[in-house]
Amino acid sequence: SPVRCDAVLSDTFSTKTSELADIDWDNLGFGFVPTDYMYMMKCTQGGNFSKGELQRFGNIELSPSAGVLNYGQGLFEGLKAYRTEDGKILLFRPEENAIRMRMGAERMCMPSPTVEQFVEAVKATVLANKRWVPPPGKGSLYLRPLLMGSGAVLGLAPAPEYTFLIYVSPVGNYFKEGVAPIHLVVEHELHRATPGGTGGVKTIGNYAAVLKAQSAAKAKGYSDVLYLDCVHKRYLEEVSSCNIFVVKDNVISTPSIKGTILPGITRKSIIDVARSQGFQVEERLVAVEELLDADEVFCTGTAVVVSPVGSITSMGKRVSYGEGGFGVVSEQLYSVLTRLQMGLIEDKMNWSIE
Ligand code: COI
Repeated sequence: SPVRCDAVLSDTFSTKTSELADIDWDNLGFGFVPTDYMYMMKCTQGGNFSKGELQRFGNIELSPSAGVLNYGQGLFEGLKAYRTEDGKILLFRPEENAIRMRMGAERMCMPSPTVEQFVEAVKATVLANKRWVPPPGKGSLYLRPLLMGSGAVLGLAPAPEYTFLIYVSPVGNYFKEGVAPIHLVVEHELHRATPGGTGGVKTIGNYAAVLKAQSAAKAKGYSDVLYLDCVHKRYLEEVSSCNIFVVKDNVISTPSIKGTILPGITRKSIIDVARSQGFQVEERLVAVEELLDADEVFCTGTAVVVSPVGSITSMGKRVSYGEGGFGVVSEQLYSVLTRLQMGLIEDKMNWSIE
């Protein structure tokens, strides 16, 4: 369908972007590359977002007293655009990100763009930056929508003004391992989320809260951290940057969404793909002991896509999975999902939009 773009291009901020010629498309990784344009839209507390605009990519100005800086009133999203062999650009389920941002905004006392505004803004931002969408098969253009309390507050209260912003960066594999299996360590002391807290929404503070455990794990050579629930200290929650799945006897299990786990769009898509491929999928409490005799473990997320897990270490005991690559189940699911995202197989669910 044709892309409607009624956004205005303005040159309010002009900061040097990177040079396209400097990009090594074969080794993209997941690092920030400044691109051409970003999308901005503002509204006041109690108001609605109206017209947004594309601006040259650059730094933004915020009051030192902005709600997001002082009280963490902020959310983010992540989604990807793929270039197809026949020259189209496909976005994977952007309306799901819009819906998730609206749910998060409700929890964080923020107004948020409508689903239509969000999707239009995403399309306009991709179009304006289309030269940065990697060639087919080399990666994707990662879009990072932000929603923040940009107005000044001093006493604890919702900010008087909000900014919705989208910036983009071309990306490849998230983990330095590439598509090779990642190595996780179970965290028994620090928790990512609490019942009744904000673990189920994509608020910025959830990600700041995992940095300490993640940095310690990385210093010991692990790729990332697997968190447990904070009540029983026994059930799997998620990894700092992605959701987790455990396979045993061809049954795929993943922790259910109960307010402390991020409702991943890749998680949800993989559950649907797995069921369509005839797998039994269970969303339930998954105990840490189940890792001991699992056949396969893998992670899902927008950034990580589907990442096989090569080992998990808990209380000093390491369990290994597979032969150094994808397991049979995760390979099948990865292959179907990525071919759908790249427009290589028929998209019966209409997940990708042009
Ligand atoms: C994503 O997968 O898009 C995320 O937002 C996770 C982030 C830690 C990169």
